[in-house]
Amino acid sequence: MTNPIAVAFIPLDLEALASAEGRLAVLVPPDGKLDPAARRVDRLTRGALSRAVAGEGWTKLKPGEGLTLGWPTGLAASGLMAVKLPRRPAPEEARKTGATLARFKGTEALTLAAGSTGRIGDLALGLVLRSYDFTRHKSAAAETPKDAKIMVAKPDEAQAEAEPMMALAEGVFFTRDLVNEPANILTTQDFAERLVALRELGVEVEVLDEDEMTSLGMGALLGVGQGSDSPSKIVIMNWKGGDAEAPLALVGKGVVFDTGGISLKPAGGMEDMTMDMGGAGVVAGVMRTLALRRAKANVVGLVGLVENMPGPNAQRPGDVVRSMKGDTIEVINTDAEGRLVLADVMWYAQDRFKPVGMIDLATLTGAIIIALGHENAGVFSNNDVLCDAFLKSAKAEGEGAWRMPLGSAYDEKLKSRIADMKNVGGRDGGSITAAQFLQRFVKDETPWIHLDIAGVASVKSDTMLAPKGATGWGVMALDRLIRDQFEG
Ligand code: BES
Ligand code: MN
Ligand code: ZN
Repeated sequence: MTNPIAVAFIPLDLEALASAEGRLAVLVPPDGKLDPAARRVDRLTRGALSRAVAGEGWTKLKPGEGLTLGWPTGLAASGLMAVKLPRRPAPEEARKTGATLARFKGTEALTLAAGSTGRIGDLALGLVLRSYDFTRHKSAAAETPKDAKIMVAKPDEAQAEAEPMMALAEGVFFTRDLVNEPANILTTQDFAERLVALRELGVEVEVLDEDEMTSLGMGALLGVGQGSDSPSKIVIMNWKGGDAEAPLALVGKGVVFDTGGISLKPAGGMEDMTMDMGGAGVVAGVMRTLALRRAKANVVGLVGLVENMPGPNAQRPGDVVRSMKGDTIEVINTDAEGRLVLADVMWYAQDRFKPVGMIDLATLTGAIIIALGHENAGVFSNNDVLCDAFLKSAKAEGEGAWRMPLGSAYDEKLKSRIADMKNVGGRDGGSITAAQFLQRFVKDETPWIHLDIAGVASVKSDTMLAPKGATGWGVMALDRLIRDQFEG
């Protein structure tokens, strides 16, 4: 796994500032008043810092943004940055500061004099998350990023505050690595092995193979994977950190590659379908975080791992399959495969675990990108209480989420001439009819949220907390939801 950079919290040491190697940074509040560390740096640089902060450029900066001075005289550091940050920042501002510092740092060492600025855990989280880089397939030995040191008034307190944040960062990195990994490497088998490794952290992990799924009657999921040489699998990750209460279930679409199947996708951009296991990637990341921070909650994560390929054994348009629930499905378009996978995993999750709630995540439809772009995931729910709680968590974590409607008129679009339903409802409202399809596999009594993450799981430009590529969207929101709603 891509390892997060190490962040050490150390006591303020004014004498060490002149000789700090790599990059040096100070935090300056919007009023420009320098703290003792910044004053020392100012003296060492013969007033360069205070001149920079007095200039017009400084007034234009937003909280979390910084000014850079290259090769400052009087310092061993190759660069000095002053980041504008109120002494009592909002979490978002602190994370942005960390992200700004990560870009300034690059692979160099970083020393940050943070004094007694608040939200130091959020700052460290932003720093670690934005330092992510997926380099494992670059032949030129990638430079291992050097560690960061943060000088603070109370190192032990800062360390305690940052610890759960580092568990979160590890979960996000796990998700990003899975989503960035190409499909020739992240096969269903390889994916399952990476999840089985969560046992080391105390997660109970089971793998269902095709024979077991056949016995369970999972014709919907199995039909999707039957064209691939890679065997379909369901991986069940059980974190039992709570008491005897029923678990929250997280269900993820894990299509390791989506060619569309016989309803083949066009060539342009097809390579992006390596991320079609993004829902399963988020479930895996959340489970890793929960285990690392020993969360006091019962959460079961289930992922359906399949590959959607054309070939002599592939499912055909017009085929009728029977789901575990017993309903039959006419497969009009083999590219609407995610819902077929989720139908069986969701039914199994409810049948076996009787969860208090169920949240599924899937890169389900291109239509959600048309609707919401790359800023928000689509949120569909049968339960306002659970849904509002999730939206609140997502907002607090800065992960865009926007509720979309459900309704019987959309559901009507799924009527089939020859089976209980068909797997597509036409172009109009494509994300909603996909969600309606899923809802047919949700029991009335199960509070449920469907998250369509097709637009947010992997993006083509840098975001605040991630370089282009996999974002890990949802790990932070779900971890917070669990912390706020499901931990005693
Ligand atoms: N995996 C795709 C959805 C997708 C598209 C994810 C773009 C990420 C980026 C999904 O399996 C799919 O192919 N959906 C079809 C559904 C259609 C055939 C009803 C789509 O969105 O076109
Ligand atoms: Mn598809
Ligand atoms: Zn897909």
